Amino acid sequence: MILILGKSGQVARRLQEAFGDQAVAWGRAELDLATCARAELRARVDELRPSLIVNAAAYTAVDRAESEIDACTRLNSVIPGWIGEAAQALGVPVIHYSTDYVYAGEGVEPQSEASPLRPAGVYARTKLEGERALLASGARALILRVAWVYDAEGANFLRTMLRLGRERAELRVVSDQVGSPTAARRIAEWTLRLATWWRSEKTQSLILNLAPQGFTSWHGFAEHIFKLAKDQNRSLKVERVEAIATSEYPTPARRPLNSRMDCRQADQLVGAYVGERPHWSADLKREMEVLRWETLG
Ligand SMILES: NC(=O)c1ccc[n+]([C@@H]2O[C@H](COP(=O)([O-])OP(=O)(O)OC[C@H]3O[C@@H](n4cnc5c(N)ncnc54)[C@H](OP(=O)(O)O)[C@@H]3O)[C@@H](O)[C@H]2O)c1
Repeated sequence: MILILGKSGQVARRLQEAFGDQAVAWGRAELDLATCARAELRARVDELRPSLIVNAAAYTAVDRAESEIDACTRLNSVIPGWIGEAAQALGVPVIHYSTDYVYAGEGVEPQSEASPLRPAGVYARTKLEGERALLASGARALILRVAWVYDAEGANFLRTMLRLGRERAELRVVSDQVGSPTAARRIAEWTLRLATWWRSEKTQSLILNLAPQGFTSWHGFAEHIFKLAKDQNRSLKVERVEAIATSEYPTPARRPLNSRMDCRQADQLVGAYVGERPHWSADLKREMEVLRWETLG
């Protein structure tokens, strides 16, 4: 049995679909990671005896993290270490998700796993601490650094844009942050393919950037969302999407301008398992084909 930590999150939901009855998912109701004791987490994992732990639970409210430092630190920095300890005691591997926000995020070149790390803000810093705590636990951990995650369901940029695009004629969207929009469904598919390999592989822990092909800005992402919506004959009010600078849209947490990730290491090491990485726009199209418009609100 595979244990997925996280249940209703974007990636967690798609992981449950991908793994089906090979996996059990624990959300807050099954084990509250904000309050559980270290020994409790260890005992619960011991009892289940999973063959692999996939940790999709995290504190992901990037701006709120600036004022909820303890809650964010607990989920993102401490819990991955405890998960690692529980996994190590059972001799089972872990797959964990991190973020491009751990990088310095400067310049315009795609950042590789060897690029300088300089997380800005509480969320980014705690995610890096979590990677380190997991690695320090001694568990065999595959850490996937992903970025700009969205899904046909839940609260995310795709759905926010579609909702606003139905309400307003003009929108202003940041155009100087560049990255690769990544569908949660794609992350789950990659994880499923990597799970068999990672359980049988004997190599030591590994950190991999994993993103679709191609880069765009949030502005470019928004424009493409509206183009596809129009192709689908959806009725939208939006006529103009103004490109603005990050400095014109102040947020409590600073975001890196460069979220481009160099995924060549993943292509070399695990390309045979994950296959050719699709272009981000192909996955957006796929996601918009299954998006239920009546749920946009
Ligand atoms: N979203 C992004 O743009 C992005 C970008 C880069 C990296 N990542 C990383 O990708 C991973 C998945 O992100 P996501 O977008 O799927 O996040 P998400 O939608 O915010 O889901 C977070 C998950 O964490 C669980 N969780 C939070 N607090 C918990 C607690 N106290 N006890 C137990 N579970 C708790 C939630 O549990 P419930 O199911 O009970 O609600 C939920 O399943 C995370 O590691 C995140 O840091 C995300």
